[in-house]
Amino acid sequence: MNPQELLDRELEGFERDHPRSRELASEARGSLLSGVPMPWMIRWPGGFPVFAAEAHGARFTDVDGREYVDFCLGDTAAMTGHSPEPTVRAVADQAGHGITLMLPSEDSLWVGKELSRRFGLARWQFALTATDANRFAIRLARELTGRPKILVFNWCYHGSVDETFASLKGSSVVSREGNVGPPVPLDETTRVVEWNDAEALERELARGDVACVLAEPALTNIGIVLPEPGFHDALRAATRETGTLLIIDETHTLCAGPGGYTAAYGLEPDVLTVGKAIAAGIPAAAYGFSELVAERLEAMLPADERADVGGIGGTVAANVLSLAAMRATLAEVLTDEAFERMIALGERFEAGVAGVIERHGLPWHVTRLGCRVEYLFGPERPRTGSEAAAGGDPLLDRLIHLYALNRGILLTPFHNMALMSPATTEADVDLHTEVFDEAASELA
Ligand SMILES: Cc1ncc(COP(=O)(O)O)c(C=O)c1O
Repeated sequence: MNPQELLDRELEGFERDHPRSRELASEARGSLLSGVPMPWMIRWPGGFPVFAAEAHGARFTDVDGREYVDFCLGDTAAMTGHSPEPTVRAVADQAGHGITLMLPSEDSLWVGKELSRRFGLARWQFALTATDANRFAIRLARELTGRPKILVFNWCYHGSVDETFASLKGSSVVSREGNVGPPVPLDETTRVVEWNDAEALERELARGDVACVLAEPALTNIGIVLPEPGFHDALRAATRETGTLLIIDETHTLCAGPGGYTAAYGLEPDVLTVGKAIAAGIPAAAYGFSELVAERLEAMLPADERADVGGIGGTVAANVLSLAAMRATLAEVLTDEAFERMIALGERFEAGVAGVIERHGLPWHVTRLGCRVEYLFGPERPRTGSEAAAGGDPLLDRLIHLYALNRGILLTPFHNMALMSPATTEADVDLHTEVFDEAASELA
């Protein structure tokens, strides 16, 4: 069958099987903008979102009583599995003893030490979202260097951070398509180069006006685009040579291991940001500094009002509930042993998908980073964000998502991403392989 015919059939099935979700979606238009509580939720493939009833471990049920294996896991924020028992226990206990105080708790010390053990950075601060951690890190980098701009890689995503919604058009920096209400033209704040292009990176940093490079260690938000051998060395050398701070955003690449890609591959960032999964979905994020950067910041920050109205922090940032959730999650859920299991499941998922692609002779490929796996509907592994974007196929994306959803599997809506949690099983992975195989047979 051709993809459009298959999609039409799957859309009919989706409508038929989700009457209660359809009813709620229609009612939601009366009280929620565009009928959803958050803009991203309009992007589910069935025309309306499935309304969740409850979630445990790697599974959830919807309001129509259907059960799903969840490989989306809240787009990484529930990489721990849903409601892991140690985090739930810690949150319930802490919630009865204070939620937010503008005072530190002992948990913050434990979490700071644990983050240092994992990622190697010396001192830490906390925020509520990875977006905020990135925003604060950028501000601090500008203040420390006295330089106005940041540099990002084309097709990156680091949360809703104004400076990062820039893209390359030829050699010009322009606002990324879809950017809502940019405060200033993007070429005033941002330099952009393609991922894996060390020459362009060196050229742009040599201009001397870039405070920091903000980079994921591998692009993950346009499919996974891995660094080529030597690229991280070139990035570190070029940032050091030009006095530019290197901020590594590990929010998604935490999938590479307990200390993210940074620990797994020995990176040496000046600043590291991480959020989403570190408190099992309770809003929490962290950003850490090398010893040298921490010393420079400590000399600069507490002296005056910059500690208060400097644009860093927030009333409920570093609240004691988030810290209790982070401590329990790091101590008992996203442990070193859990990552071993999750990465082995990632390998199984990758092998299953690769087998199907090969068996059906499809011009597709699969890429894995730790416990995160993505497939792209093109034959070549992309080297840059632009190549990855050009290799996308919106019709096939939608079809595969819906096909999987109709058979009890949730993939991430923006790309074909699957994430393994400590609660995911081999049977869950094999179910995906079977369904993917069935879809491939119908398409072939
Ligand atoms: C790499 C990366 N950094 C930061 C963020 C922002 O996270 P949040 O939306 O939780 O602020 C995201 C979100 O997808 C991300 O992918």
